[in-house]
Amino acid sequence: MDPARVPTFCTKLQWPWIDRKWLPLHNLWLDSGMDMQLGTLQLRNNLVAAPMCGISNRAYRLLCKRYGAGLVYVEMLKVESFLHHNRKMMTLKYFREDERPIGIQFAGNNPLWLADACKMAEDEGYDIIDFNMGCPVPKIGKCGAGSALMAYPERAAKCFEAMVKAVKIPVTVKFRAGVNENHLNFVQIGRLAQEHGLVGVTIHPRTREQGYTGLANHERTRELKASLRIPVIASGDVKEPEDAMRVLRHTGCDGIMLGRGAWGRPWLFREIAEMQSHGRVFTPSPDPLERLAILREHFELLLEAFNETHACQVVRRYATWYIRDVKGSPAIRARMNRVSTREEFHEILDETEACFERELGHEPALATVAAAG
Ligand SMILES: Cc1cc2nc3c(=O)[nH]c(=O)nc-3n(C[C@H](O)[C@H](O)[C@H](O)COP(=O)(O)O)c2cc1C
Repeated sequence: MDPARVPTFCTKLQWPWIDRKWLPLHNLWLDSGMDMQLGTLQLRNNLVAAPMCGISNRAYRLLCKRYGAGLVYVEMLKVESFLHHNRKMMTLKYFREDERPIGIQFAGNNPLWLADACKMAEDEGYDIIDFNMGCPVPKIGKCGAGSALMAYPERAAKCFEAMVKAVKIPVTVKFRAGVNENHLNFVQIGRLAQEHGLVGVTIHPRTREQGYTGLANHERTRELKASLRIPVIASGDVKEPEDAMRVLRHTGCDGIMLGRGAWGRPWLFREIAEMQSHGRVFTPSPDPLERLAILREHFELLLEAFNETHACQVVRRYATWYIRDVKGSPAIRARMNRVSTREEFHEILDETEACFERELGHEPALATVAAAG
């Protein structure tokens, strides 16, 4: 396929498994799940795409949005890099109007810098600002930011106060359960956030020490929800619509933030929206051919955000996720891992598609979607 033709082809295939005349109705379904309000910001539903370093670039956010996310975030930015217009930051923070509502997330522990960054973010048009108190990475922790700040609630409170005072747009915070099992202070941090005018909190109920090991303990989400009046969003280990329903019911939380579960599977947002509004998922998951079409589109969106070499490097990771349970995926992955031009990328997908079409006689069977993450 001539790569120049791809965008049109992809546009036609945006919702290939739904007759386009039903699209307006389908969007209604996406909106008809539980909605959520964060301060003055009314969201179409209660499903949030997690900010994720190295993942939630513009291409990823646009696909999450299209498949039903009610709110998307730019990945966590260190407040000082944001203020100093560091070059990498300029690529990361740029967003398109059709991503709205869109949030930005800062990590830091200096109230003055955070206030300045919030003002800048408001001027740049973001709809909401989140404060990161969940990142366990040493690079952030050694500056006393991210989840390390949970050990210093008074300092955190000063940051909350400065951020809220600086802007009119809503401010939220995302935190963990605590520093470790002996220091669980998520309720204290949640209450401080509420007292200082933050309009919502997200909890990833693992400790800083846990990193990403073990399970997210949503018993803690439940305890937090019972202690606060502002909306509580749960983050952690939601990989299927059933997981989302279980967490929502068990904790009484207001919304769900999806991270690894949506990797290579942005339609998980739609599936959860359908489950919430109708009690079941009725739109079939994309079959292998449709998934390849979504991967093509993902790549074209990456090319909008990055130069060709960088887009090729980035797409390798996403490609692995899109094709993970597709027949012959190890061979496709091996080729994808060496892809270095746009032409090469489309060539691999053309051949893979032709192979599927031959095997499936143009009637691809529905693939079973494996658990993500
Ligand atoms: C690769 C990666 C990058 C992440 N980056 C961020 C980030 O920038 N900001 C943030 O608040 N959380 C970040 N997280 C945490 C996720 O937002 C989420 O809270 C966590 O992965 C648990 O949810 P999940 O099980 O749905 O993935 C990151 C997680 C991963 C795996």
